[in-house]
Amino acid sequence: MKIKSKLIIYIIVTIMFMACTDNHNENTITHSNVNLINEKVDSLIKIMTLKEKIGQMNQYNGFWDVTGPVPNGGDAQKKYEHLKNGLVGSMLTVRGTKAVRAVQKIVVEESRLGIPLIIGFDVIHGYKTLSPIPLAEAASWDLEAIKKSAQVAAAEASASGINWTFAPMVDISRDARWGRVMEGSGEDPFLGSKIAAARVKGFQGDDLSAVNTIAACAKHFAAYGFSEAGKEYNTVDIGSSTLHNIALPPFKAAVDANVKTLMNAFNEYDGVPATGNKYLLRDILKDKWNFKGFVISDWASIKELVVWGYAKDNKDAAKMAALAGSDMDMESHIYISELEQLVKDGVISETIIDDAVSRILTVKFELGLFDDPYRYCDETREKEIVNNPKHLDAVLDMAKKSIVLLKNENQLLPLKKEGQNIALIGALANEKNSPLGSWRIASKDNTAVSVLEGMQNYKNNNLVYKKGANVFIGDVQFVNEIEINTTDKSEFKDAITVAKKADVVVMVLGEHGFQSGEARSRTNIDLPGVQQELLEAVYKVNKNIVLVLNNGRPLSINWADKHIPAILETWQLGTQAGNAVAQVLYGDYNPSGKLPMTFPRNVGQIPIYYNHKNTGRPVKDEGNPNLVFWSHYSDVENTPLYPFGYGLSYTTFEYDNLILNKKVFDIDEDVHISVNITNAGKVAGKEVAQLYIRDLVASITRPVKELKGFELIELQAGETKTVHFILNKDRLGFYNNQGEFIIEPGDFDVFVGGRSDKTLNTHFELK
Ligand code: NOJ
Repeated sequence: MKIKSKLIIYIIVTIMFMACTDNHNENTITHSNVNLINEKVDSLIKIMTLKEKIGQMNQYNGFWDVTGPVPNGGDAQKKYEHLKNGLVGSMLTVRGTKAVRAVQKIVVEESRLGIPLIIGFDVIHGYKTLSPIPLAEAASWDLEAIKKSAQVAAAEASASGINWTFAPMVDISRDARWGRVMEGSGEDPFLGSKIAAARVKGFQGDDLSAVNTIAACAKHFAAYGFSEAGKEYNTVDIGSSTLHNIALPPFKAAVDANVKTLMNAFNEYDGVPATGNKYLLRDILKDKWNFKGFVISDWASIKELVVWGYAKDNKDAAKMAALAGSDMDMESHIYISELEQLVKDGVISETIIDDAVSRILTVKFELGLFDDPYRYCDETREKEIVNNPKHLDAVLDMAKKSIVLLKNENQLLPLKKEGQNIALIGALANEKNSPLGSWRIASKDNTAVSVLEGMQNYKNNNLVYKKGANVFIGDVQFVNEIEINTTDKSEFKDAITVAKKADVVVMVLGEHGFQSGEARSRTNIDLPGVQQELLEAVYKVNKNIVLVLNNGRPLSINWADKHIPAILETWQLGTQAGNAVAQVLYGDYNPSGKLPMTFPRNVGQIPIYYNHKNTGRPVKDEGNPNLVFWSHYSDVENTPLYPFGYGLSYTTFEYDNLILNKKVFDIDEDVHISVNITNAGKVAGKEVAQLYIRDLVASITRPVKELKGFELIELQAGETKTVHFILNKDRLGFYNNQGEFIIEPGDFDVFVGGRSDKTLNTHFELK
């Protein structure tokens, strides 16, 4: 007779747990949840076989229609057998309460110990109802809104059986060619750290065992965003200073925010692939930062240690990864095939396995999976929460906050609400799929509100739509762009005809949602296809153009910046994209986004970022006859097209009265800074006040500017507010090349403003 294995666990673990707490001196027992869980985990590990423990370290992708017949033969049958035998700890990409219940049932009822699975999924910017892509959300600089967006995603995903997301991606990147910049928070470690913490808190909430929260996963540890030349899966070659001061801080912030898991990365650091990198995983993450959660590999990245030439075969790869601190194997299938023998041969100590398993089990206990493995599988809740109309309001709010106004000559925007002939042009204006981005596994295709639909809500204008040109013809989802036809100009003439008659032309141009994301690196970041030609052709007949950009990365739009009077950066804004764009175009929402990533003048300037070093030759030496020998290009200026932190509003803000409380500070003292900001325009608006510093002389050269604070404020027309910032040790110090955080006395410049390149400046000394 089959006894429900769940029962066995509860009985054995509880008896053992009581036995071990009995032995404790009363004073040493703390009855916090943490200790209770630790004791339960220890008790459970004691009754697990080595094979079962290794099973917990094994994650498989969803592999058959779990509500249908069981697989017969091949890889699917192997996975099914492994589930039954307790050799799988987690599955990814299984979704929906029915499917999750079905796989959970196999392990709970058929495996010896019935340890529930943790169910992972890429909930990147929403589950079914989609928020803007993460890079867009970062442009809001609105931490509360970003947290809320993650909460909505967690609510929908958890209602659909999922209890673990592979997000947030906290990789800093300075390279717009890299397709995955859309998934992160841009180029800055300070902003990136704040957003990392906000997202972790949004997904995990205050109580991980609540049914509407899920475990988060900060990825990809570490330095994946520095892929050489922006080419996907490429090597990374950065120095220690960049690793510690730029790449690692957002991960540290996620760990400090109690993130439960981290994912390692496809890249190498200093010649050692991240998946087998003991320095990163054990020395820094688990020892120095005291991270108590678990580390999952990226997809097949353990097996890829062989391809890298770092391990000689699968066995060697399993050894390297486990010793380095990769606790769970995503789809390499080699922990399950190799680790047992490695332990039996004494190559890996069982304590390494126990440590990994106890980390994994701890998260499962924290999620409440041992109390009820089906707690995320409530069909009534699924029906009520997934696609709940309230979530549409939340993602619309986030979408509006993510929009950045890049240019607005002669106040062409906002558009007048009546009596206007408006020509709307561009394939992306009529897109219901592209705004969903490339990470939208659970959501239905073509479910975004298009810009055309959004603008049609403003009924007192005469709106005419023409496509003009395709972004591409074919399927960009899994095909390279070079295989796709984008040369057709046959519909230009229709666009030109309507543009001629229009008071204002709104052109929605840019990248399709599938042109950025994983494995979508590009060497050319101009407007794809013939869209630039279309823009120029329309401009010839009507100069009153509002360019609405759709894109998952900074684009190079030099020509547009020179000629087009109004430019609105709208990224890929998710389910409510078109409504958000229309409300901003018509002034029902005053844009307040600021760029989280520098826009270059052309692709050759990349990597270009605001927090660069000064170099030994930063400026032209006017007194020197050899005028060319300074750090610059001879064909384009050094400045970017739009700097980090840049973004306009329908009003204007004036900064004055930048004051420090003193001019000389002891090294332990806080520096208090205040500045007055006035809304000098005619409408209310929001402004992101930004604080930067420069450490003028240090034992390791410091950037010319570093963001160290920001404040999002709202001001009525004519209103003035004083904003206060505090600089403390944490913000004034930096990491040396040994990864130690140090603070050095000396002179500091302080800059405050609404963009990184135009600020009020002052100065202080640290003694
Ligand atoms: C590979 C990606 O790099 C990672 O971010 C993602 O979470 C996994 N695939 C699972 O889909």
